[in-house]
Amino acid sequence: MSEVYTPSITVLDSPADVEASVADLLIDQISQKPNSVLTLPTGGTPIGIYGLLVAAYQARRVDFSRITTINLDEYWPIKNNHPASYAYYMNDHFFNHVNVPLENQNIPNGEAHDVDREAKRYEQVIKQHAIDLGLITLGPGETCHIGFNERGSAEDSRVRYVPLDEQTKQANLRFFNNSEDMPEGAITQGVADILQAKRILFMATGEHKAWGVRRSLMGDISSDAPASFLRHHPNVTVIIDQAAASLLN
Ligand code: F6R
Repeated sequence: MSEVYTPSITVLDSPADVEASVADLLIDQISQKPNSVLTLPTGGTPIGIYGLLVAAYQARRVDFSRITTINLDEYWPIKNNHPASYAYYMNDHFFNHVNVPLENQNIPNGEAHDVDREAKRYEQVIKQHAIDLGLITLGPGETCHIGFNERGSAEDSRVRYVPLDEQTKQANLRFFNNSEDMPEGAITQGVADILQAKRILFMATGEHKAWGVRRSLMGDISSDAPASFLRHHPNVTVIIDQAAASLLN
């Protein structure tokens, strides 16, 4: 049995407060260690954070020229230039506006022909780095997914193809103009890859995440709620807004 830790939980008033706090923590991390290796998420929750990081870069408060980024996941199959791909998202919200060197940007290739081979390649990328900080968001509804580790994902899982949970598909349809474009699955870092980071920032905002926050932080630690495995990591900081915290206690 792995040891169970109690993460520090900060509850802030609004999503904007959560975004500002997480952006400041990321900037602090990079100031202290300019060559930091970061695990990064996509989706709706972190969009504001990328906006704040771009603004901080433009104000010369932060320099990204030595960081390395390793994204959590990418749909598969999907064209890199599809507007709902995570490659497109990262360029649109972050990389196109800052100075992260292209060769330091890592994201699974949604265009790979052989998905298992691509998963192995991405696992090697992760193994070649010591990840300083992982920014992790919580999946929708009852999924409690992290990355795209859907329910049923094992704690020792590694990079692999995962079929998307029906609840994930429903929630993420909003990013696809044409629902038929939505892939059935994704390439994701495994739970074990995520837990390898020295420090994890776990964030969630909104009432629609309240059930998952409670399940992940207070329920059984099990594959039924992959985010619950974060409690096996000794250095997790949870930053959530009042709405997402509303079912705690
Ligand atoms: C995306 C990812 C997913 C999303 C999660 C939450 O890289 O890893 O776990 O972060 O589905 O999505 P939003 O923020 O849109 O609710």
